[in-house]
Amino acid sequence: MNLNSNVRPEEMARITTKELADKFIDEQVAEIKKQVGNGKVLLALSGGVDSSVVAALLIKAIGKQLVCVHVNHGLMRKGESEKVIEVFGKQLDANLIYIDATDRYLDKLAGVSDPETKRKIIGSEFIRIFEEEARKLEGVDFLAQGTIYPDILESDGVKAHHNVGGLPDDLKFELVEPVKLLFKDEVRVVGKALGLPSEMVDRQPFPGPGLGVRCLGAITRDRLHALREADAILREEFDKNGLNGKVWQYFITVPDMKSVGVRNNARYEGWPAIIRAVNTTDAMSATIEEIPYSLLHHITNRITSEVEGINRVLYDLTPKPVGTIEWE
Ligand code: XMP
Repeated sequence: MNLNSNVRPEEMARITTKELADKFIDEQVAEIKKQVGNGKVLLALSGGVDSSVVAALLIKAIGKQLVCVHVNHGLMRKGESEKVIEVFGKQLDANLIYIDATDRYLDKLAGVSDPETKRKIIGSEFIRIFEEEARKLEGVDFLAQGTIYPDILESDGVKAHHNVGGLPDDLKFELVEPVKLLFKDEVRVVGKALGLPSEMVDRQPFPGPGLGVRCLGAITRDRLHALREADAILREEFDKNGLNGKVWQYFITVPDMKSVGVRNNARYEGWPAIIRAVNTTDAMSATIEEIPYSLLHHITNRITSEVEGINRVLYDLTPKPVGTIEWE
């Protein structure tokens, strides 16, 4: 079976079990060794499902010949970069370069309110940082990418949010794309077979620009902090109440507006935290999950009492269409 072309062979079985995953892993490990030899491979490791599974596969195949670069753009959810460092840096002992670029991003984004401009800044800053790191390293001939089959079917095969498609021409790499013929559910099965933790493999989709498009309008550090803390509470409560496997995507959005509130008998102005919890199969349309009112009350109490700056919690009941999943 030719696994190198960009067309999935018809006889290729859907990977649904550990046995099938192990077989795929063995084949790919051999394939990667053959392609890379003694060479060095660079990988942008976001901590998302696809790049994490590619990293784990490559670590199994070539160990320290893989150089992972994790850029923390300051727009991660709570604990995500720490998890990447723990799993890949410590547990899997990977060659991991961690870059805390929070200040760099937030300075560039200060005062920028247009969503598409924000996305462009976040994307191009990523390329610049990745390029800087790539230039510092010597003898890297290969670039690994977490391209999956839907990316090939839907686009030119370069995953937009991996953003390494925009590297300058003098930085030429041969691509290593071991999961490019797999669908998302298969990538997850392979990830589990490789021993990655469920919170990494079963992660809900998270946009490349991260919390940047959920801190609506011009991002400020205090509002971003409030959003991250509120989002962590929502995720914790959904996990505890068994909703993480039932709801496709759930998150908090915090708009750039304040309303009047009252706390400890004093006027308390704050931002609203808006909960969005949707179900979908392809993200083209989405329905609203019915969350028990008691849980919504509990989450509201926690967010308004634990998160500085939030004085209201709202639940977005709008399906897609007419509302998109993200607010901007
Ligand atoms: P919308 O908001 O268009 O979202 O209904 C559909 C799905 O795409 C995700 N999304 C993004 N993913 N970069 C990404 O990588 C982006 O700029 C982006 N915007 C939206 C969104 O989270 C949802 O899963």
